Amino acid sequence: MRSAAAALLVAASLISSASAQIGANWTQLAANDCGPDLLIDDFSVVRQGKLPFPPQVDNTTRFLNALGADYGDDGQNLTFATVPADKVMRINVITTQNFWFSKFDASACFDTTNFHGIAFDMLAPVGGNMKMTLTQKNPDCILRTDYGPSDATYIPITNYMNPNGTKQSVIIPFADFKMNSGGKLYDFLHLKDWTLNQFSPAGSTWEISNLRLMYACKGNGPLGTNSTGGPTTSTVNPATTNPAGGAPAAGTTPAAGGAAGGAAAPSSTGAAGSAQSAVPAKSSAGQTLYAFASTVFGASVAFLGGAL
Ligand SMILES: *[C@@H]1O[C@H](CO)[C@@H](O)[C@H](O)[C@H]1NC(C)=O
Ligand SMILES: *[C@@H]1O[C@H](CO)[C@@H](O)[C@H](O)[C@H]1NC(C)=O
Ligand SMILES: *[C@@H]1O[C@H](CO)[C@@H](O)[C@H](O)[C@H]1NC(C)=O
Ligand SMILES: *[C@@H]1O[C@H](CO)[C@@H](O)[C@H](O)[C@H]1NC(C)=O
Ligand SMILES: *[C@@H]1O[C@H](CO)[C@@H](O)[C@H](O)[C@H]1NC(C)=O
Repeated sequence: MRSAAAALLVAASLISSASAQIGANWTQLAANDCGPDLLIDDFSVVRQGKLPFPPQVDNTTRFLNALGADYGDDGQNLTFATVPADKVMRINVITTQNFWFSKFDASACFDTTNFHGIAFDMLAPVGGNMKMTLTQKNPDCILRTDYGPSDATYIPITNYMNPNGTKQSVIIPFADFKMNSGGKLYDFLHLKDWTLNQFSPAGSTWEISNLRLMYACKGNGPLGTNSTGGPTTSTVNPATTNPAGGAPAAGTTPAAGGAAGGAAAPSSTGAAGSAQSAVPAKSSAGQTLYAFASTVFGASVAFLGGAL
């Protein structure tokens, strides 16, 4: 692990010229109009390691993706694992008040504006559902923005696919998440993570594969002029996509705030900093979140202690 982590850091510094870093620990990848997808993970290998923080800030071993960012969950109501033999992220639902997330950079402060959206293949159980959101980092890239109201609209996966036990290709345009749960504009410049909530039914199994970010094309990024334009299908070009194979996203000098996202520790109870422990089981978003949100925020700050 130690040498692997060192290799990641070297790779990151080598490719850092490919991105601009504006502000501290903010990951902004240059536009690549209609370029090949950026691989988040092909799940061909299990990556475990620590985020590139001083151990005093975050000393937790986490599951990581090809961008050097972590996966995590609610720590209780589902389990997840990368299964290299099948090249999938497999999620086993225990009870339905659950969440799983992926970040796109180690600092959990990612500029999505040069990207059209998230693309992946998904095998969802017959009659299954879950809701996706984008969680929010403050512009300082350190703290998470107020829990609940700042999360983007929660959108059910059934808007994009038909859960029927067969694998389907899915594209989730960021533009669909323009509004946040508090009725304001979501800040696409400072994404914390992509969180999938309330997988159901209990006992079901879900699989995500070929997970990637699609570059914006002909103005179809979340702030673009052409939200309906661009390709409707996309594939990874292995020759040009994330050749470092495990390098963190370029331009990241992690902030303490990045640690706040982590529920990914295999042994962690993990609710701190993750998006949705606050979401009532039947609530998709919005007003009902507020009371829970402040409670959870307080608890998380306490949990993180000196890290903030
Ligand atoms: C970090 O964890 C390692 C064990 O993995 C331990 O030896 C070390 O003391 C820890 N460092 C801090 C600052 O907690
Ligand atoms: C599942 O849904 C997809 C998308 O609607 C469809 O193409 C496929 O034929 C369906 N498979 C079954 C077994 O119903
Ligand atoms: C919007 O996207 C469509 C589909 O790719 C394209 O035909 C059209 O020219 C685009 N419009 C602008 C203004 O870029
Ligand atoms: C950026 O990350 C470095 C390394 O972890 C940290 O020392 C620094 O405080 C961070 N800057 C901000 C503004 O968080
Ligand atoms: C797990 O689900 C139970 C209800 O089944 C809920 O009370 C609990 O808060 C959930 N845990 C997390 C971390 O979301």
